[in-house]
Amino acid sequence: MCGIVGYVGHSAGRVNTGHNALDVVLEGLRRLEYRGYDSAGIAVVADGTISSRKKSGKLSNLIAELEASPLPDSLTGIGHTRWATHGGPTDLNAHPHLADEGKLAVIHNGIIENFAELKLELVRKGVDFKSETDTEVAAALLGDIYRNQVHGSSKGDLTKAMQLACQRLEGAFTLLAIHADQPDVVVAARRNSPLVVGLGDGENFLGSDVSGFIDYTRRAVELGQDQIVTITADTVEITDFYGAPAEGKEYHVDWDPASAEKGGFPSFMEKEIHDQPDAVLQTLLGRSDVNGRLTLDELRVDPELLKHVDKIIVLACGTSAYAGQVAKYAIEHWCRIPTEVELSHEFRYRDPIVDENTLIVSISQSGETMDTLMAVRYAKEQGAKTVSICNTNGSTIPRESDAVLYTHAGPEIAVASTKAFLAQITAAYLLGLYLAQLRGNKFQGEIKDILADLNKIPAKIQRILDNEAQIKELGQSMADAKSVLFLGRHVGFPVAMEGALKLKELAYIHAEGFAAGELKHGPIALIEEGQPVFVVVPSPRGRDSLHAKVVSNIQEVRARGAKTIVIAEEGDEAVKAYAEHVFYIPETPTLLAPLLSTVPLQIFALALASAKGYDVDQPRNLAKSVTVE
Ligand code: AGP
Repeated sequence: MCGIVGYVGHSAGRVNTGHNALDVVLEGLRRLEYRGYDSAGIAVVADGTISSRKKSGKLSNLIAELEASPLPDSLTGIGHTRWATHGGPTDLNAHPHLADEGKLAVIHNGIIENFAELKLELVRKGVDFKSETDTEVAAALLGDIYRNQVHGSSKGDLTKAMQLACQRLEGAFTLLAIHADQPDVVVAARRNSPLVVGLGDGENFLGSDVSGFIDYTRRAVELGQDQIVTITADTVEITDFYGAPAEGKEYHVDWDPASAEKGGFPSFMEKEIHDQPDAVLQTLLGRSDVNGRLTLDELRVDPELLKHVDKIIVLACGTSAYAGQVAKYAIEHWCRIPTEVELSHEFRYRDPIVDENTLIVSISQSGETMDTLMAVRYAKEQGAKTVSICNTNGSTIPRESDAVLYTHAGPEIAVASTKAFLAQITAAYLLGLYLAQLRGNKFQGEIKDILADLNKIPAKIQRILDNEAQIKELGQSMADAKSVLFLGRHVGFPVAMEGALKLKELAYIHAEGFAAGELKHGPIALIEEGQPVFVVVPSPRGRDSLHAKVVSNIQEVRARGAKTIVIAEEGDEAVKAYAEHVFYIPETPTLLAPLLSTVPLQIFALALASAKGYDVDQPRNLAKSVTVE
């Protein structure tokens, strides 16, 4: 989820009547920095050459670099703020990446799934790669194709070269390219990753979203899947990957710049809830092959060692710990490995049993949570192997772990975690399936079927989001609630706990999640007339008559006056008789249901807190990353 900007201005003869590309691109990157801030870079075409600067860290580091070593004025430029996926947040891995002997500059958002095979092909052609990124491979491929077009003094055709390159690329990508031979052109391509065109007067823009150019124009053209766009100061030409002309959809941007950074939503929290289909999709992308075999290349732990793991301990805090709780059910079911979930801050003080056959799986959005970092260090001292599931490339916990499986949710700005939670569960499922594949607990066909079900989840989340009005209204109507209880069984239990945490964090009211079966062992004493109780109901198609047991739990609380709000699977009529409100989620296998049943609870908490007028992005007393024990 990187920030991308492109610009072509107009010159009347030698006089630049547009803006200086550097200024436009930097302004765009500043507005897009929320999309990624591991590193930033910029390239311009001037005097027949490409000039570029790039720096790890925040945009301010690049600005300092540009002050120390200025770029020439130019009419054509591209810029990038990085949210690292392949390769850590270093100067070398920052974009742009150059190719064709420094005459071509490329920036990229997304994941090139087949970058390894392309890299091998290009190395055999003598390409000397400098970075660890998939982007440099895309740049080298584009440069190789472009160079092969050139004969004698003829010039290549960057648009044609981009078309041919995109025919070779697999995965998700937004690519922008400029070439020294074509100083008044930016060529871009998109597949499964956003790109919009900004239409100016004698100048045109490109952005990963409208924030990239909203200060200069509000006329935008949204590009479709597998399209290529070539912009000059006065023209915008769109084709498909094979050169056939295509149309973009023009629209007027009526957001103010501040809300544009939130994708038009009133808060990052709401934007990130709506980012969740993409967060799950991006976390799945590039991690299995066409045969359904998991290819967790980045999970560099000796497979032989993983075969002998006899215990898994998940270490995490807060929402990430609830993701671990969901993972426990899946990993134990798929891999038959005993899996414990430990709150990091409790783990090392209880003299845990850890040895070289223990696999530690830490889960952390920030990768900086001190409780979890200290627990991982303790486990390593006891000889355990450690895998980090993390959303922040290059952060401390993955750096100190033996291996990492990054979630690709993109930067999560709101303090209360949403899209990272779903991405963490997704990554934990992938890890569980990988272990089952490695240890032979599951046939390849079974794994392929589960992956197929996982790949249907983004669209199912979108369906819930498309029908959010009803749950939003309920949240707004309950702004005066003093206490809300959440019940669930099996994987619904950690979902109930996460739903309660969201409400605590955002609305500052008492909320508690329980295992539904625990109710009769005490908590049912809390039930009184009008007490709101959410119940996460498992699929009626599931096993162990879990569904019947939860329906009887709903009856128990309803009989005592509770206001029951039920999250149930589409078609589940049995719950209607005992529910004041029912919110249906699409059908999905029980173990994958948390990726869906969590979403209405997030929307409810956001709506109720918003109705109270609270700051949902930065709730009181909280920090996005708890870097103290
Ligand atoms: C989640 O909404 C909270 N902000 C908090 O519980 C968070 O999940 C916890 O602090 C762990 O953070 P981490 O994932 O960055 O390690």
